[in-house]
Amino acid sequence: MGTSFTELVGCSVPIQQAPMGTVSSPDLVVAVADAGGVGTVSALGLPLDLLLRRLDGMRRRTSGVLSANVVTPDVDEGLLADVAARVRLVDFFWFDPSPRLVELAHRSGALVNWQVGSVAEARAAVDAGCDVVTVQGLEAGGHVRGATPLLPLLREVLDAVGVPVLAAGGISDGRAFTEVMTAGAAGARIGTRFLATTESGAHPAYKQAVVDAAGDCTVVTDAFAVCPLCATSPRARVLIAAVQRLAELDDDVVGTVAMGGARVPVGRGSGLPPVVGAEGHPDAMAMYAGAGVGSVTDVRPAAEVVAALMAEVERRQPAGGR
Ligand SMILES: Cc1cc2nc3c(=O)[nH]c(=O)nc-3n(C[C@H](O)[C@H](O)[C@H](O)COP(=O)(O)O)c2cc1C
Repeated sequence: MGTSFTELVGCSVPIQQAPMGTVSSPDLVVAVADAGGVGTVSALGLPLDLLLRRLDGMRRRTSGVLSANVVTPDVDEGLLADVAARVRLVDFFWFDPSPRLVELAHRSGALVNWQVGSVAEARAAVDAGCDVVTVQGLEAGGHVRGATPLLPLLREVLDAVGVPVLAAGGISDGRAFTEVMTAGAAGARIGTRFLATTESGAHPAYKQAVVDAAGDCTVVTDAFAVCPLCATSPRARVLIAAVQRLAELDDDVVGTVAMGGARVPVGRGSGLPPVVGAEGHPDAMAMYAGAGVGSVTDVRPAAEVVAALMAEVERRQPAGGR
């Protein structure tokens, strides 16, 4: 299915796998890129040499479209240039659109996508020179930028900007995907559905908790606000079960995760999600999940997720997206 987004970035299906910190493992990113979507890695928290080696390694493994996510305005300009030279799309979130950072990414040959939570922010992103805007609705898993549900915000943003618009938040099945494409989105950015894949870096107990959760089992909370993003706005959508489990424990440290070759303690209320190898109480860590969690009923390979989403959107909306 061709859209203005697929034509611009050169992918074959209008799906971006959302950056999800350590959950968006290289295996997941490569699998989605191989399946024709955009595979996105998080640049957060990795030492520069490791990040660049990781990007080069992924590039060798796939000829698909790769993206790298940046969530801080204090990014080193040299690092941004090195990262942008290795991906088709640089993906920003959680701070005001910056013409300077957009220009730096462009100079290295990358396109720029900015995830926004309001119409005003979408306009600011386009004014800053962004090539793509992602509209994040209140339903989204992880840190939630705005306060408006996806479909009304998507319609408003589509009226306000002229660049390709992706929709994000609660899109975990073909029905929700078709809804946003029918509304005029050029594609979807999907996190939670890709969390429950064989390739994702989520801890097995986290994947299972997502599979077991019903649609009303998530909440926007500040319970896991010990994180750099929450320093400016402590709002993230997680599984309610994680908030409840944390409340049952008295511990100041709920476990450990492996990061950059070291074992890192996970303090009470830390924003670190439970990834493969997490020890202690992964069920009391930040189990981010979107409001579409109820339609995630199995853990399967990412390529199958992409194929199933595409089969359903093509069946329901054979004419394609905008
Ligand atoms: C586990 C998890 C971690 C996330 N981490 C990031 C991140 O590091 N950077 C970012 O821009 N967005 C992050 N997000 C939010 C996504 O960009 C996107 O808005 C969200 O996944 C869409 O909603 P969905 O999960 O219901 O599909 C994360 C989402 C999840 C579920």
